[in-house]
Order: sequence, then structure tokens, then C-alpha cells
Amino acid sequence: MSRFLVKKVAVLGAGVMGAQIAAHLVNCKIPVVLFDLAANEGSKNSIVTRAVEGLKQLKPAPLGVADDASLIQQANYEEHMDVLKECDLIIEAIAERMDWKTDLYHKIAPYIAEGAIVASNTSGLSITKLSEALPESIKPRFCGIHFFNPPRYMTLVELINTPTTGADVLDNLEAFVTSGLGKNVIRAHDTPNFIANRVGIAGMLAIMKQTEAFGLTYDVVDDLTGKKLGRASSGTFRTADVVGLDTMAHVIKTLQDNLGEGEGKTPDPFVGMYGTPPVLAKLLESKSLGQKTGAGFYKKVGRDILRLDPESMEYVAGGAKSNDVVGRMLKKPAEERLQLLRNAEGAEARFLWAILRDQFHYAAVHLEAIAETARDIDFAMRWGFGAKQGPFELWQQAGWLQVANWIKEDIDAGKAISSAPLPDWVFKGPVAESNGGKGGVHTPQGSWSASAKKFIPKRKLPVYARQHFPENVLGAAAPSFTTAGTTLHEDDAIRIWTLGTSNDYQEAP
Ligand SMILES: NC(=O)c1ccc[n+]([C@@H]2O[C@H](COP(=O)([O-])OP(=O)(O)OC[C@H]3O[C@@H](n4cnc5c(N)ncnc54)[C@H](O)[C@@H]3O)[C@@H](O)[C@H]2O)c1
Repeated sequence: MSRFLVKKVAVLGAGVMGAQIAAHLVNCKIPVVLFDLAANEGSKNSIVTRAVEGLKQLKPAPLGVADDASLIQQANYEEHMDVLKECDLIIEAIAERMDWKTDLYHKIAPYIAEGAIVASNTSGLSITKLSEALPESIKPRFCGIHFFNPPRYMTLVELINTPTTGADVLDNLEAFVTSGLGKNVIRAHDTPNFIANRVGIAGMLAIMKQTEAFGLTYDVVDDLTGKKLGRASSGTFRTADVVGLDTMAHVIKTLQDNLGEGEGKTPDPFVGMYGTPPVLAKLLESKSLGQKTGAGFYKKVGRDILRLDPESMEYVAGGAKSNDVVGRMLKKPAEERLQLLRNAEGAEARFLWAILRDQFHYAAVHLEAIAETARDIDFAMRWGFGAKQGPFELWQQAGWLQVANWIKEDIDAGKAISSAPLPDWVFKGPVAESNGGKGGVHTPQGSWSASAKKFIPKRKLPVYARQHFPENVLGAAAPSFTTAGTTLHEDDAIRIWTLGTSNDYQEAP
């Protein structure tokens, strides 16, 4: 395997994500140049300069050392295109518009160095469609690289290839992103919103619907869907405020534009839940975009956090907590917990069963299309959304077939969020029979792949395959100096060999 060495990275777009990705590269001691549009007035770099200065104030801190902001080289597309030629990796992180991104690709194409990888940080636009804007010679080096916000802290990076991405591009990037940037990688298919945002945003939309159906307030729902449920402490509505309601709307729009019925769309039986929730539409209309504009589902006034009342669209006193009885239910072991929630009388407990059921249902129906195995969905929710457990893990822990039957009963009774039946593999065959008859998608042999219809073992990261010696230092499986790899030169005194191919070795000039 030839080695992909990253000597310099270009990040295109100095917005929320681009500036913070550049900061994380600096944290990892990787030279980086940050581009944005040339400003109309003053210094042409002033848009980038403002973003770099902003990094020092941002919380949680994107930079390990605030003054390291000065290590980010600043650039704009009018004056500095030649700098792109010095970069081995170009990460595009401009606004989520297909036309703007493809326009920029046309502009940068002549300046992309031979061998450089070009990757988009889009939240969910088609990587294949984006690649079509690039010349044939660059298409094999183009892919998706999806960081999560805030990129210094969220460990997930989804890598996405296209039908024309070269075979070793994702392996090379994975090695860099894991060992160079300290991230966890999931390979995602090029389906709308990839894995974490597809399952995560569908989950948030379901929660918004059920909040209304059960007549709960946003503060109580956040209390229920935060730490108590083993999820990110900001719960649901505060998470939306932190991400930005405009960004969330973009991700929802990708679902609306690409899934459902109609030309060019992929059928999806959950299409009914992809509508923009009316309250979100009203907030967007009034430019209340969450934390970045000071108001969204919540508004901070002095030291008080007020919550939105969706009826009046006024902010009222917030901070209400959920019922203690429900809190105690959530501390029970998984099997008992789900049973208690499902059988309870109170709205809060029934709401929790409903949102868990909706998430299990959604993950099971979509597994085949969006992920290689159930493992990828579970880890996407852990690493990208801060959950302690992914949906399949919890379902399996609570009793695979019992929970599957409860979901089926709710679907049959018209209580579920979609009438789509659970896939057959849930009830019959290897998944139902696994783990000594207890059932489940995770087994010692690997995790269930609905597309391959078998359990697939954990993929061995190529980055570890290179590190031959930490494993098997001794014993029969350990590589031997006399026989391992490919011999490059051998005489009585010395044997020179490589674990790659002989092409990796170059004579010193
Ligand atoms: N915000 C998030 O939580 C998040 C998370 C993951 C991925 N993303 C993705 O990252 C990308 C950037 O998102 P963001 O939140 O940083 O956006 P942002 O709105 O904060 O920044 C967008 C940047 O793009 C630049 N820009 C706008 N129009 C342009 C054009 N026509 N040509 C060149 N540059 C242009 C702007 O000057 C700005 O610096 C998007 O694709 C988004 O979907 C966002």
C-alpha cells in the first residue's frame, strides 16, 4: 500500500465547520490554509480573518492553544489559488448548496495538485452528484469527509465514496483521519444524509412529532431525552438550537428533496415524517435560528433560560423537569425499562416508549440501504450524536424478539410513525436465532448486514494492518525477519523487505 502523506491541507469555507476543522488540524500540528470568498471592502482576506479571530472566543474551544490561531494561513479565491497546488488534501466546507459547491469545484480544478485528495464536508448532499462537476482526472480522488460539530470534540468522521472514487483513497484518508486527527471513522453509503444524520435527524423529527402528540413541553422533553436516556446532555430541542435551526432545516430539506415519491427520488416509507415541523418553520421565518441568533426553542434572558410556547410563539419560564417515577424507570435494566415504559399510564413514559420504538423501527427498515452493518448505525449514533448506545444495541439488550413483537403490534395498531412492516430478517433466520436463540444483530461472529444477509466481522482498519509489529510479536502468527513481506534486496549480510509492494521503495538519488 503506498503511503499518503499529508504535508498541507486546504480547507475551503471559513464558516462554523471550516474554521473549526482548520483549528483541529492546527491542534494536530498539520499545516493548513483556510480559504473563503474575497471581501468586497478592506483586506480581501477579511472574511477569513474574522473567522480565525472568532475561533479564540468560541466555546467549547476549537483550539488547544488560542494563540495557535495565527498558525492558520489565510487565503481567498481571488488572490491565492496557487497555494492550493501545495496541498495534498482539500476539504470543501462551504454552504450547503449543490450549485455553489459545484461552481467552486469548477474554479479550483486547475489548481488541484496531482495526487491530492479532494473531499466534501457536506452534511448529506450526494457525493456522486458533486463529483460530476470535477474533471475525469480528479474524480478518482474525490470523496465525502463528514465531520460533526464541534469537530474537535465529536469523534465521528463519515467517509463516503462514489462509483468513481479510487480503491485506495478511502483507506488512505481513513489512516490519516484516525491516526493523524484522532477520529473514529465509519464508511457510509452515498445515501441522503449518510448514516448519523439520517438516523439522528429522523429521530429528532419523530421526537418533535411525539412531543406534540403527548402534549409535553420542550424543557421536559430535553430532560427526558438527555442524560437520563443515555443521550447527549443537551437533549433534543437544545441540541437543535446549538446546531443551528437553519442547518437542521438544510438537512431536513435533503430528506425532502431526495426521498419519497417522484422523479429522481428514492422511495422511503417514512416520508410522512420528513415534513418541516410547523413550529420549526415559524422559527425559521422569524430568523430565530437557535444559539447563533440568541433565540430558537429556547431564549436566554439575563440568567434565565426561557422556553418557547408553540401555541403563542412567546417565550415563557422554562427549566421544568420530568417526573421522578419516569426517572426511576430509566435506571432499570434494559428489558425491564422498556417494558415499564410501554405499559405505563403517564404521558412521559409512553412518549419515551414511542420515540424508542420509532427509532428502532426506522433503523431496522433503513439498515439495508444506508449502512453495511448494524454496527455502523450504532457507532454513528454514539460517535456523531453522543449517545451511550445505538438503537440496535439497546433493542438487543432489551430482548430482541420481545421488542420486535411490541413494535409489530404498534405498527399493526396504527400507533407507529410509519406503517412499513419490520423487515423479515428481524423475525426469521440468523438474526432471530443468534446468540443462543435470544436473537440480535450483534454476535461474536460480527454484526448483521441486511444487504449481504449475513453477519460481517469487524473491519480491520487499514491503518492497523500497516502496524504489523504491535500485534503478534511472538508466536506462530508473528512475522519473521527472514520470510515476511516482499524482499527488496538480500545478500549474506542483510535482507531488505517491505510489508507493502516493491513499488513503495525508492532508491535514494
Ligand atoms: N454546521 C454544522 O453543524 C455542520 C456539521 C457537519 C457538516 N456541515 C456542513 O459543512 C458545510 C459548511 O457548513 P457551515 O455550518 O460551516 O456553514 P456556514 O454557513 O457557517 O459557512 C459557510 C461558508 O461558505 C462560504 N460561502 C458561501 N457561499 C459561497 C460560495 N458561493 N462560494 C464559496 N464560499 C461560499 C461562506 O462565506 C461561509 O464561510 C456545509 O456543507 C454543511 O452542511 C455543517
